[in-house]
Amino acid sequence: MMDELMSLAESHIVTADTLDVEEIRRSFPIFSRPENEGLVYLDNAATVQRPRQVLDAIVEFYIKHNANPHRGAYRLSEQATQQQERARSKVARFIGAGSSEQIIFTRNATEAINFVARGWGDKFIKAGDEILVSKLEHHSNLVPWQMAAKRTGATLRFIPFDAHGNLILDDLDKIINRKTKLVAITQASNALGTMPPLDRIIAAAHAVGAKVLVDGAQAVAHIPVNVTRLNADFYAFSGHKMMGPLGIGVLYGKRQWLEEMDPVHFGGDMISDVRELDSTWNELPWKFEAGTQNVAGAVGLAAAIDFIKTIGLKRIEAHNRSLTVYALEELAKMDQIKVYGSGDARGPVISFELAGIHPHDLATFLDQRNIAIRAGHHCAKLVMKSLGVSSTARISFYIYNSLHDIDFFIAALREAKGFFSKWR
Ligand SMILES: Cc1ncc(COP(=O)(O)O)c(C=O)c1O
Repeated sequence: MMDELMSLAESHIVTADTLDVEEIRRSFPIFSRPENEGLVYLDNAATVQRPRQVLDAIVEFYIKHNANPHRGAYRLSEQATQQQERARSKVARFIGAGSSEQIIFTRNATEAINFVARGWGDKFIKAGDEILVSKLEHHSNLVPWQMAAKRTGATLRFIPFDAHGNLILDDLDKIINRKTKLVAITQASNALGTMPPLDRIIAAAHAVGAKVLVDGAQAVAHIPVNVTRLNADFYAFSGHKMMGPLGIGVLYGKRQWLEEMDPVHFGGDMISDVRELDSTWNELPWKFEAGTQNVAGAVGLAAAIDFIKTIGLKRIEAHNRSLTVYALEELAKMDQIKVYGSGDARGPVISFELAGIHPHDLATFLDQRNIAIRAGHHCAKLVMKSLGVSSTARISFYIYNSLHDIDFFIAALREAKGFFSKWR
């Protein structure tokens, strides 16, 4: 364990707090609420908090520009359209997409993945084909593929992971073969933090003509992402994990695949022409955006991107890494702790178990000390089954967390050990 920590630390410049956390925290109104005084929020993999800049942008949209976009020939409607399309361009630039038409607004990463499973999968995956996922996937990047396999008659196959949480890729050329039509893979596991070697997997998939969907939900707010360089065919993420509002997400796709793919939702705004018995579809990206869209969500997401940019993803990455390394070091000093996964490359997510204490009991105990952690299967039951457990406790970090938060958490963990040992 210590050796792995050393190599993690050596491979990156690890400093203490690389960000001015106090200053950053002041931008987040939730931390200045009297009832949240001293809150140590360590459930960032579930959702992060929103800065005032994002909240203000949403309110400003409703106060100044609210109307139904793409529908009215009047000033406010045009403004709403402009706001939405500006947000789309910002998202496109942020993830290095070739054009804003390749950015489809969805409700979240889950919906983005379902769009591909339905709209692309049902059209292009046939009986006898293979869909490949990893055992690290969040249910959002697993269940849609189970259903697509059932609908199309394809076989769903899995890349397993080893005791460190790294994907086992020794037989990559067998696992990815001529039958493989689509590989759906996470960029960062929400359960173990593992960041699979996507370059290698994407190159292997493309070598046999398979498409790759990357689930970027846990990555896009943590590391610089360039979907064009990554060469992902599809890329999905949620706004709420990157300080944007709840209810807005993004599907990116290579233009040709998006053009060939069928829409999944049907109704207003996504049509080109409507006749009695059939219709034709609008151009990209609107063909996928049926009904009135969450413009305030898109505007909030754009504000979140601005906020991320003012800090810088490289600094965010370094900060999160230093917190992760420090937390792993402190956890390693404790006995009766089992940390799950110590992958070669990892995000700021640590799953663990304190011997003899159910993760839910631990989370409740920590909540009484104003520390929010996650306990459960983390919507990754295949990870839990591979580990042979039903649940874990999980901490995850973001820009407003400090080394002090970790010290506070570790002290509370020691206290929990003492408390629960009385009942054993
Ligand atoms: C890796 C990963 N993929 C997908 C999702 C689904 O995100 P959402 O619930 O916002 O659709 C999550 C959410 O935790 C996640 O961690």
